[in-house]
Formats: sequence, structure tokens, C-alpha cells
Amino acid sequence: MFVCICRAVTEDEVHEHCTAGARTVDAISDRCGAGEGCGTCLERLQQIVSERTSVTTAA
Ligand code: FES
Repeated sequence: MFVCICRAVTEDEVHEHCTAGARTVDAISDRCGAGEGCGTCLERLQQIVSERTSVTTAA
């Protein structure tokens, strides 16, 4: 499923960037461009990053 329509970035791709070390929305944007268009996806990107960060810190 696409998270960012503007840059055709899927949710799986965002998770891959998180796994590779991206910990902020800016880091995701730098890696794949997600969030650099209309901005509609920024809230969802932040949600994914927050979920991944909380999983990482809880482990
Ligand atoms: S949907 Fe991501 S910037 Fe537009």
C-alpha cells in the first residue's frame, strides 16, 4: 500500500528505511522523498516512525 502517493513510496519501503536506520520523518524523506510533495502523508510517516521507535526502545 502506498503511504506517499506523490513519490510512490509504499509502507513496506518506509519500514525498510526504518530498519536501515532512519529514525525521523526527515530521514525517511532524505532516503526516498516521501513527504516532500503535498505533505498529506507526513502524519502517517510520523506514525510509522513513532511505532518503530517505540518498538526499538521497548526491546
Ligand atoms: S502524499 Fe506524500 S508528499 Fe504527497
